[in-house]
Amino acid sequence: MFILLHTDAPECKFAAGVGTPGEGPGQRLPPKGELVIILSLKPSMLNSQPMPTTPHSGDVPATVSWQDVLTSLEDAVMVVDSTRAVAFVNQAAETLTGLSARTMLTRDSDDLFHANGWLVALIDKSLGPDEGTSHAENDFVRRRGQRVPVSALVSPLRDQDGGVAGSVLLLRDRTLRQAMEEDLRRSDRLALLGKLAAGLAHEIKNPLGGIKGAAQLIRAEVAHDPSLLENTDIMIREVDRVNQLLDQLLDLARPVGLHVEPLNVHELLEHVLGLEVHTAAAANVRIRRSFDPSLPSIMGDRGRLIQVFLNLVENALQARPTYMTVTTHIETDFSLRTDRSNSTKFVTVDIRDDGTGIDEDDLPDIFSPFFTRKRRGTGLGLAICDRTVKEHGGRLGVESRLGEGSVFKVSLPTQQG
Ligand SMILES: Nc1ncnc2c1ncn2[C@@H]1O[C@H](COP(=O)(O)OP(=O)(O)OP(=O)(O)O)[C@@H](O)[C@H]1O
Ligand SMILES: [Mg+2]
Repeated sequence: MFILLHTDAPECKFAAGVGTPGEGPGQRLPPKGELVIILSLKPSMLNSQPMPTTPHSGDVPATVSWQDVLTSLEDAVMVVDSTRAVAFVNQAAETLTGLSARTMLTRDSDDLFHANGWLVALIDKSLGPDEGTSHAENDFVRRRGQRVPVSALVSPLRDQDGGVAGSVLLLRDRTLRQAMEEDLRRSDRLALLGKLAAGLAHEIKNPLGGIKGAAQLIRAEVAHDPSLLENTDIMIREVDRVNQLLDQLLDLARPVGLHVEPLNVHELLEHVLGLEVHTAAAANVRIRRSFDPSLPSIMGDRGRLIQVFLNLVENALQARPTYMTVTTHIETDFSLRTDRSNSTKFVTVDIRDDGTGIDEDDLPDIFSPFFTRKRRGTGLGLAICDRTVKEHGGRLGVESRLGEGSVFKVSLPTQQG
């Protein structure tokens, strides 16, 4: 999509449509077939009211406010004038920067973006002698240090004589795209593992059955000798462990049918916390609950979701925290829509701990099967959680900082949608 902004035009125009070279008031038109929005503005209108327009085609309403158009855009649009003062921001720019229009307008852009040197450099370039459009992908750093991955397009804002009157910034939040790319990577890894596991597991399970049977026979023979008995018990226990691991692997590899029923998430969480209460007490971990009493029910597989929350709670407790907080709330999020659910309302469960946290380098791998930092971990827990949550049409997310703690976020679609 292209947006062209022009100031000082003899009249103010709005046009939206599919661009064809040679059409419209803009000079630099996009290739044929691109959606193009052309705005011609007088500088005095940067803070102005709705403007009357001439309908461009049958489906464009007779009166379109350019401000409405910019407000409706999901991309952040900001305009900096030639003195480098911020002259215009749309609503998406407020969301992305975390600052209100009031705070930003008329502020010096160098000052406003001082934590984003790369963006200031792009503005410099667009205002400079060999001004041109620049593109970059980087993190936008908000006032409190929070980083938002963005792709940025910064172009000179030209006046009627072709001079540079300022700079137009177009920033797109890449968080969702990155999450989708990561989802895709996770699915690919699982698909590959699935093929491998299904082939191997069958071959391994048969001889294991033989080994276990033989160990049980020997056990019966050596029942009188405690030290030999101990050794055969170890053999049987370890065979059981490998068997369990193979079952988990097969679980992960083949699609499991869900037995869905209406579920009360709080009841589910209480059940899981009840199972872990002794482990938490032994490790001196305080468990806090912050439950939203208006939480609606969800449709889900009780057994599978208990497995999800159990693994997340166990992971939190194993991270040597002083506390663990389980929070529930309702979330409306269009970006969470998945191909399995069209719901925009989600029940979200956050499991937060102040334990070891996760190394930034490890974060992309923790959902991969067999990734573990634990001596006796299998590394299958989070891979299974992720798969199960996805099968419910939900999403599993994580935020973590080494030395500070982690929060795992399970979002599941509500029944109402
Ligand atoms: N709450 C957490 N705090 C710190 N690290 C975590 C947390 N949750 C997961 N991890 C990291 O992610 C890795 C993978 O977790 P996962 O649950 O998949 O496997 P595991 O816990 O190591 O083994 P298993 O679940 O099979 O016993 C862990 O080894 C740990 O390094
Ligand atoms: Mg685990």
